[in-house]
Amino acid sequence: MLIKTRRRWEIRESEATPEAVFTDRRRFIAALGIGSGLIGAGLWPAREAAAQTRDPTADLYPAKRNETYKLDRDVTAEKFSGDYNNYYEFSTSKTVTPASDALKTRPWTVKIGGLVEKPMEIGIDDLIRRMPLEERLYRLRCVEAWSMAVPWTGFPLRALVDLAKPTSAAKYIVMQTFQDKATAPGQRQFWYPWPYTEGLTLEEARNDLALMVTGVYGKPLPNQFGAPLRLAVPWKYGFKSVKAINAISFTAERPKTFWEGLQASEYGFWANVNPAVPHPRWSQADERILGSNDRRPTLLFNGYAEEVAPLYKDLQKERLYA
Ligand code: MTE
Repeated sequence: MLIKTRRRWEIRESEATPEAVFTDRRRFIAALGIGSGLIGAGLWPAREAAAQTRDPTADLYPAKRNETYKLDRDVTAEKFSGDYNNYYEFSTSKTVTPASDALKTRPWTVKIGGLVEKPMEIGIDDLIRRMPLEERLYRLRCVEAWSMAVPWTGFPLRALVDLAKPTSAAKYIVMQTFQDKATAPGQRQFWYPWPYTEGLTLEEARNDLALMVTGVYGKPLPNQFGAPLRLAVPWKYGFKSVKAINAISFTAERPKTFWEGLQASEYGFWANVNPAVPHPRWSQADERILGSNDRRPTLLFNGYAEEVAPLYKDLQKERLYA
């Protein structure tokens, strides 16, 4: 039975000093008009400036924060979270920028199909403008036992499911990353089961926490984070959060995911965070916070048990945690 207590990440905003500093920076930038003054003054890093000018939805950032989602720790500075990424299409090292900057994210079309009333192809800018954007502070826990806390901007995955109108036969949503060997050298490595594929049950996809991400740190998503569209499911290990999505389909069958295809004994479909279930190579008991030497105990469902544990009450025979 779940006992309702104050959740560990429910702290007052004033207690998270660096976050408040970060918020001030956002307000300052917004007041200047998305940083155009700074770009003109040559104070804005060149790469960010390029990202801002080529993104036709830049005017939507920063989006209003949804205060429901609070952290139990400071926001990770972008210099750490943006320079330690997993993006196997571009590199197996953590430094994927500037290789990932080679990906052109406009024009970008998302195909929505499978068991839906009306399959469609929709341009990313149309999609983003049709969806209710908001900012949420979320944690991300990687199965490699590091974690970060970031202000994602995005829209509830549920809104996309509603747009797609899956038929009653649909049980799963499947999301895939672009494929382009010329741009993504990792995709020339034939032993990986490209394209990167992830999936959720429709019930998981409709959970409040499931977020389609289009931005971070109050601006459009930089490429290394998975521009122009990625998933965030913070109660699951980070590998479920598929990047650079251009195909979404609804199926009756459970999909085989990228990491399952590579090593099913180590990476399962469910991949819910659980400190008591170790991975063969990493204890899941605690986690290293990016940008610091601190370690913290890992929490069941990454601390989001109250929101998501009910999803799994009838699935106890499944391998829910690996
Ligand atoms: N999506 C794609 N397409 N390719 C990848 O290699 N890596 C995953 C996930 N999404 C990955 C991906 C893994 S293992 C993690 S931990 C997160 O992205 C990392 O997200 P971040 O780089 O924004 O921290």
